[in-house]
Amino acid sequence: METTLTILKPDSVAAGNAGKILAHLEEEGFTLRGLRVMHLTQAQARAFYAVHKERPFYDDLVAFMTRGPVIPAALERDNAVAHLRQVMGATDSAQAEEGTVRNLYGTSIEENAIHGSDSPENAVKELAFFFGEADRIASL
Ligand code: CMP
Repeated sequence: METTLTILKPDSVAAGNAGKILAHLEEEGFTLRGLRVMHLTQAQARAFYAVHKERPFYDDLVAFMTRGPVIPAALERDNAVAHLRQVMGATDSAQAEEGTVRNLYGTSIEENAIHGSDSPENAVKELAFFFGEADRIASL
């Protein structure tokens, strides 16, 4: 078993798609091991996406991610990181394969409905960012 991190982004929460997206992920065999609703501060969004700080879209991304509440979730299943990336679809919602979360619920390359960790190493770091040590140990 492996655990990965998703974030239901402000576009998903504002559109009332959070429940549908969580149900979609459960139907894909993920078990919810951690879940919270939070409105990210600028500092939190900048820190989470620090890897993108030199990219031209960084300031817009931070503005988007702080626009409204998000729902970070710890998701467990076998091969969780790779499977979430498959279920999530391409970064650009317009390019995402039919039936993927970003195809169904995203609207652009930025407002793409959900985040998913891109490697097992980053999943560990990102889970630590949003969930306390007790939650993380319980889900590993
Ligand atoms: P995510 O998988 O959360 O990782 C970084 C985010 O930056 C990405 O989803 C998009 O929301 C956003 N993003 C990535 N590339 C671009 C881009 N070229 N233009 C605007 N936003 C982008």
